[in-house]
Amino acid sequence: MKMRAAVLEEFGEPLSVQEVDLQAPASGEVLVRLEACGVCHTDLYTASGADPSGYAPAVLGHEGAGVVESIGEGVNSLSPGDHVVTLFSPQCRECVHCLDPRTNLCLAIREEQGKGHLPDGTTRLSRDGEPIRHFMGTSTFAEYTVMPEIALARVNPEAPLDRACLFACGLSTGLGAAMFTAKVTPGSTCVVFGAGMVGLGAVAGCALQDAGRIICVDLSKERLEMAREQGATDLLVGDENTVERILEMTGGFGADYTFEATGLVKVMEQAVESARMGWGLCTIAGVAGKGETLDIIPRLLITGRRVAGSSFGGVKGRDQVPELIERYMAGEINVDPFLSHELTLDEVNRGFDLMEAQDGIRSVIHFN
Ligand SMILES: NC(=O)c1ccc[n+]([C@@H]2O[C@H](COP(=O)([O-])OP(=O)(O)OC[C@H]3O[C@@H](n4cnc5c(N)ncnc54)[C@H](O)[C@@H]3O)[C@@H](O)[C@H]2O)c1
Ligand SMILES: [Zn+2]
Ligand SMILES: [Zn+2]
Repeated sequence: MKMRAAVLEEFGEPLSVQEVDLQAPASGEVLVRLEACGVCHTDLYTASGADPSGYAPAVLGHEGAGVVESIGEGVNSLSPGDHVVTLFSPQCRECVHCLDPRTNLCLAIREEQGKGHLPDGTTRLSRDGEPIRHFMGTSTFAEYTVMPEIALARVNPEAPLDRACLFACGLSTGLGAAMFTAKVTPGSTCVVFGAGMVGLGAVAGCALQDAGRIICVDLSKERLEMAREQGATDLLVGDENTVERILEMTGGFGADYTFEATGLVKVMEQAVESARMGWGLCTIAGVAGKGETLDIIPRLLITGRRVAGSSFGGVKGRDQVPELIERYMAGEINVDPFLSHELTLDEVNRGFDLMEAQDGIRSVIHFN
């Protein structure tokens, strides 16, 4: 079939919205009609050429939500009409990682996904017979996408899809970092560095876990106010003295849980140093630049601090994205403030501009 999609042709150039070909789903695959898709930093990171593993031409986009249009052979967990959220982090439910509660890093299709292929090593996207690669296994800056069944979470059909799409990446990453990676305990003291989509999600996750105190650090007062709306109890404008101020606020000890959601290694260091001796756990969600390293004084670890990384918040997508969306539907997660701009697919590059200008938390593309 023919459809419109935003193609990354050349790194550093605007995406080109054009007609491309999409093949029918093969065995184990599903055709999804996209309804909404968030514009995320990872799309821009790849489009800019900064990501060393990036490739072109490719259809970008990974924060998608839509409706199943048709299914390939052997697909039995989804049917046409189902509402789905796309997962760049799949869940096959069979590999050694899927069977272990300690991780969400499904091993089933990693290699081919990283190359821009569907699991069988080919693409469904093309133009004049030339293959176009899939991005993050999702390619949701498009009217339709073909994805493996194991990378789609079936969600409550009552959930508005322009909200549900935020659970495809940033929001779940933040919520999950607090709920599933750190497993914040009731009454604890938490610090969240960064109040973008991921950090605000982490604040909301700490609040859902009944944290006693949630300190949020950002450079933007406006974003800190959004953190307050999500449950932050203390707001700090970040600078080089942030750690000292957090220690002062916590009786000299630091916090039970700290979260890093900026992608800056200097802030990661602050997040480690703000964790409490004895048991403080620092969870890193931000993606650092290529080649950057994180400096940690070993004494901080010997005295009981721990550091964990979190990919997609440790969320096992097919099981837990629907559960998070149920909590949103029950009124426990306030998603509306995160939606800043509604765009058409043709305005996708404006989504990047808005993100660079830090105008709002998420721009969402609406398809119709
Ligand atoms: N681990 C994952 O699976 C995953 C998923 C999505 C995004 N990410 C990463 O998470 C990070 C955050 O993503 P986002 O969409 O929320 O980004 P964002 O740019 O919207 O938010 C980052 C925030 O950090 C703040 N900040 C900058 N310098 C700071 C400082 N010195 N102290 C405190 N705050 C500071 C900025 O003001 C901004 O509000 C990025 O690195 C992104 O690549 C990771
Ligand atoms: Zn993302
Ligand atoms: Zn798996």
